[in-house]
Formats: sequence, structure tokens, C-alpha cells
Amino acid sequence: MNILETHALTRRYGDLTAVDGVDLSVSQGEIFGLLGPNGAGKTTVIKMLTTLLPPSGGRAVVAGFDIQRQPSRVRQSIGYVPQLVSVDGTLTGYENLLIFAKLYGVPRSERQARISSSLEFVGLQDAANRMVRGYSGGMMRRLEIALAMLHLPKVLFLDEPTVGLDPLARQLVWQHINSLAGEFRMTVFLTTHFMEEADHLCDRVAIMNLGRVAALGQPDELRASMAKPEATLDEVFAHFTGHQLDNGGDFREISRARRAIARRG
Ligand SMILES: Nc1ncnc2c1ncn2[C@@H]1O[C@H](COP(=O)(O)OP(=O)(O)OP(=O)(O)O)[C@@H](O)[C@H]1O
Ligand SMILES: [Mg+2]
Repeated sequence: MNILETHALTRRYGDLTAVDGVDLSVSQGEIFGLLGPNGAGKTTVIKMLTTLLPPSGGRAVVAGFDIQRQPSRVRQSIGYVPQLVSVDGTLTGYENLLIFAKLYGVPRSERQARISSSLEFVGLQDAANRMVRGYSGGMMRRLEIALAMLHLPKVLFLDEPTVGLDPLARQLVWQHINSLAGEFRMTVFLTTHFMEEADHLCDRVAIMNLGRVAALGQPDELRASMAKPEATLDEVFAHFTGHQLDNGGDFREISRARRAIARRG
């Protein structure tokens, strides 16, 4: 069963077609990755699927609900970790969770149990009563995941979940994402610039370029389709987008990551 489908999903900003006729389907429990260079349209796809931005054309169904006709039903069924920081640094981790529990309509009688289990899930029990301002980038991202899963959504959207994190913090986030799909049968729809991350985590990936899906499939299928089974996903990415990724990322990516980090501070 498909838990998420898009049909010719399109978004224009003035003359620019940021997302151009995208067709995707994702099945329940799948970890699906959206890859692509800066400006490919990944965040715009996620904003439409989370009902934050209306499409200019096409349609999409998330958790059985049409994003345009039933936006509130969609919102009840999803969790979302945006690209930029979404937690309040002047509150404690616990207070952030309590606000989200109320916002998501978690019944009062279940709140404490849901908050404790979310904190435990991301390993932040001991930091729960500290101000988020003092958290590391990795702890903050884990808190954001805890917030987004508090109401046990069917589909979790993560826009660059590990941007700005060191390798160790990144691996912790990977473990949590894997357990969400494994333990809770959540469907995870994420974007990333890290090919290693996509290879490690995702059942299937779509590589976007200039608003279109340039390639779609399991990482191994994509390698096979370029007749180079030993290709790294970086090479697959370069093959389908014409973009070369160097190890340090490009200037725009780095400055964006740094801006995000500065905002956390
Ligand atoms: N509010 C906006 N108004 C005008 N253009 C926009 C707006 N938001 C995004 N765009 C443009 O739409 C295109 C797609 O942007 P989007 O943020 O979806 O890309 P992305 O794949 O998420 O990129 P990144 O990897 O940098 O996060 C880009 O050319 C961007 O400049
Ligand atoms: Mg983006």
C-alpha cells in the first residue's frame, strides 16, 4: 500500500518552476530519500506534502488524505523536522516537548508517558531539564526528532536531518531514524546532501535536478542502471545531475549549514 503519492506535483515561484511534474510513491514503513543539488526543489516538495505551501499544479495524497482538500487530516498524520532549527532555545527540552504535546492534541492523560518515551527514544532523558540553548547541534536535532514523533505520526518528514552534525552525532540520528521505521512502522521521507547517508539509510531514493526527478530506485538499482555496480552514490548523483560533489560541500551549502548553527547558538 502506498502511504504517499504525488501526481505531476508542481510549484512555481513567478517564472521559476521549482518543482516540475513530480511523480512519487512511497510505501508504508519505507525510508525514502530525496537527493539533489542546492535549489533542486527538495524543500519545496516537502513543504507541499506537509501542507505548508499550496501546489501550483498536480496533486498529492499523504496517509490517505489529499493535501489540498484535507489539509488538517494530513497535518494530524505527519511529523515534520524543518531544514532550519525549530526548537525554542530559551526553554528546556521537556518544555519544548510539552508545548508540542498540547499543539498536537496528545490527550492530557497520555502526555507524560509520550514525553518520557520520546525523550528516552532519542536518549535525552538526562538533558530534559536543561535549556536547549546549551545543547549541542546533535542533541538539538535529536530533540527535534522527539518533537516530531511525539504523536506517533504515520509519516515523518525530515528536511536535511543531519546538516551541520559531526559524524558521531550523524550516526546517532541515523540509528533513531532506522528505529522509527523498524519499531513504529513509521514512513520516513527525508532529504539529504550526504550520499553516504542515503546509501546507509534509504530503501529507495529519488534524485532531483531542476525541479524534476532525474532518477528513482534503490541505491543498488541506480548503480546498476548506469552499468557500474561498484559506483559510489556520489558517482550516481553526478551521473544523473551533472553536478560534482566535492567532499567539503560547496560554499552555499557550508554557509547555509553555518547559518543554521549560528541560529542554534
Ligand atoms: N519563497 C520562494 N520564492 C522564490 N523562489 C523560491 C522560494 N523558495 C524557493 N525558491 C527557489 O526554488 C528553487 C527550489 O528551492 P528549494 O528550497 O526547494 O531547493 P532545495 O532542493 O531544498 O535546495 P537546498 O539543497 O539548498 O536546500 C530554488 O531555485 C529556490 O531559489
Ligand atoms: Mg532544502
